[in-house]
Amino acid sequence: MTTSRELIVRYVQQESEKVLRRIVRDTIREVRTNQRNNYKGDSKTKKAVRLNVWECIRNTLGTKFESGRHMFLCSCEGGDASVLSGLGLDYDSMIAVDHDPKSVTSFHNKFPNVEVHKSDISEALLDHDDLSSIYLDFTSQVSDSSLKHVYNATKALNPNGVIACTFSVGREKELNLNDNDNACLTRVRIFESYLKKRLGFKPNTLAYFSYKSDSDSRYGSLMLVIVFQVKPQKLKNTPFHKIDIYDFYRNIERLMHHQNLCSLLNSNETQVGIWCKRVREYPPSPRRSDFIVRMR
Ligand SMILES: C[S@@+](CC[C@H](N)C(=O)[O-])C[C@H]1O[C@@H](n2cnc3c(N)ncnc32)[C@H](O)[C@@H]1O
Repeated sequence: MTTSRELIVRYVQQESEKVLRRIVRDTIREVRTNQRNNYKGDSKTKKAVRLNVWECIRNTLGTKFESGRHMFLCSCEGGDASVLSGLGLDYDSMIAVDHDPKSVTSFHNKFPNVEVHKSDISEALLDHDDLSSIYLDFTSQVSDSSLKHVYNATKALNPNGVIACTFSVGREKELNLNDNDNACLTRVRIFESYLKKRLGFKPNTLAYFSYKSDSDSRYGSLMLVIVFQVKPQKLKNTPFHKIDIYDFYRNIERLMHHQNLCSLLNSNETQVGIWCKRVREYPPSPRRSDFIVRMR
């Protein structure tokens, strides 16, 4: 027969196991939540890419750029919101989305007048069919899930709208090519044939950009940005811009006297002052020519 002492011991054991299990489960959940967003903010090269991509979108849309609405992934930094306001857009033309609650909160603190949604991008896209542009600045690879987001974005645009999407290149085991250009072009082929299958036509690709988000303390991954319109291919040759840190300084040289330079670089006056001084003292060399991709 079980004594009351044994019963108490068993009860305490069971309860402490439950508490332990709960702690382990909460820890895993917390780690998962933290892993959802490992974005560290823009490197200088990424700042150059962000500005050049939005300039490409603005040049394509012409006057519709200012009158349209633009959706992007916000992150805690809000680099896109900063660049767009630097290019002269009102905050009410921007829609920011992020599935990470912490990013949404800090973005909202920085840009309280921008509409922001805490949700998966594909869910947010469902509410729209007339956006002028969408920038899906993923840090993930070309994968089923990222391609599905891109396809969903094509349904949320107006007919002349532009989509830009960023992918990480080279971490996929089966596609780990050494040659950077080939590695990017392989992803471009996968991307374009996926969209061709789903849309029924090859999209009109406006530009490709590649870059490495290097910082002083670490090497970044190779990244690829594809900018396209959801209409049948018109351009025969698509420019491929390889962006590096000197493009960041070239942008500063080009825009040194722009009244919104701080917003265009998503940085504060002190930092921008230091960069401008550096560019005056050590002007960057002219840009080498980009290459043209004939994918067809
Ligand atoms: C590279 S950061 C975006 C940087 C941002 N465009 C900026 O202007 O600073 C990627 C962000 O997208 C978010 N994200 C990734 N996949 C998402 C998805 N499917 N739906 C919503 N947000 C997503 C991440 O939480 C992260 O904050």
